[in-house]
Amino acid sequence: MDTKVVRIDEQHMDDSLIWEAGQIIRDGGLVAFPTETVYGLGGDALNPASSKKIYEAKGRPSDNPLIVHIARMEALSAIVKKIPDTAKKLAEAFWPGPLTMILEKSDVVPGETTGGLDTVAVRMPSDPVAVSFIEAAGGYVAAPSANRSGRPSPTKAEYVAQDLGGRIEMILDGGDATLGLESTIVDLTVDPPEILRPGFVTGEMLRRVLGQVEEDETLFRVDSGQAPKAPGMKYRHYAPKGELTIVRGPSDAVAAYINGRLSEGRRENRKTGVIASDETVEGYRADVPRSVGKRNDAAAVAKGLYRILREFDDEDVELIYSESFDGAGVSQAVMNRLLKAAGHKVIDV
Ligand code: TXA
Ligand code: MG
Repeated sequence: MDTKVVRIDEQHMDDSLIWEAGQIIRDGGLVAFPTETVYGLGGDALNPASSKKIYEAKGRPSDNPLIVHIARMEALSAIVKKIPDTAKKLAEAFWPGPLTMILEKSDVVPGETTGGLDTVAVRMPSDPVAVSFIEAAGGYVAAPSANRSGRPSPTKAEYVAQDLGGRIEMILDGGDATLGLESTIVDLTVDPPEILRPGFVTGEMLRRVLGQVEEDETLFRVDSGQAPKAPGMKYRHYAPKGELTIVRGPSDAVAAYINGRLSEGRRENRKTGVIASDETVEGYRADVPRSVGKRNDAAAVAKGLYRILREFDDEDVELIYSESFDGAGVSQAVMNRLLKAAGHKVIDV
């Protein structure tokens, strides 16, 4: 299959191209599209055959449910049993935006889309290209991140093409994703609501609106030994090809430890990489040293992380060490993804 890549200018959107993309979805095909978090691999959420195609294109296990993307609040009632007050409040506060809510699904949502679950994940993205595309597609677009299973989520169209070129009908290229990390997922079918995946909408922000909100405790622990509650969080996602280890501790000790390991790696002729910050990156003797940005700018770190992991893959880096980026708020989301990319390998120095 030839994958048509079309550049969409957010300021002057070409309606005929958006319409063409929507038509592909309505005909049961697949289109990757930009959102403010990461690129999504879209199909018709209400068509079981489309969801099957998404799993095939991604190489993803079909027990891993998809997020249904909508473009307006009126679309929600058709796909859920009821809209609880908690959902109304969160929608008011954070939609459109990087928040996904788990709700009880109605019968129109096929089990193929929800991985056989009675619940459905719903998100209303804010990216204007995404919004127009979802409308053109009929209002309900099922979309996981547009990467091959096991690869970092794509933050630009080029990365989508690397992973899915030849496997899908079209890629809408809307430039770089503004945030660079996937949405926060909150389960509203339990009381109190529970965060299944941390993101830019933080626990604190959710608590300000809802009061009590729990967090799936498997998300941050280095070795919790328990399965996470969002089916997709159990897979070793976001994984670079190289072996990644996080090193935690005072920055001098971290640098000394990592440099020691890098020398060893070089002696074994392994290509090395480091994930550091603007403040520390010059101190590392790696083949591919990378900075995520200023250490205390969690949004920059979030935006840079997946790009760096992909660059390591492109350069065939075999041995990767990362500083730790612990902290409150968005840092929690960053550490959650970094821990997963590292297969939870952390060394305290
Ligand atoms: O920012 C995002 O959320 C991006 C963009 C494209 O919107 N999408 C995304 O989708 O990250 P995906 O499929 O890569 O991750 C969705 C996660 C998976 O971990 C999945 O298991 C979980 O959401 N999920 C989906 N439906 C669920 C449900 N009914 N119950 C629990 N977890 C669910
Ligand atoms: Mg994903």
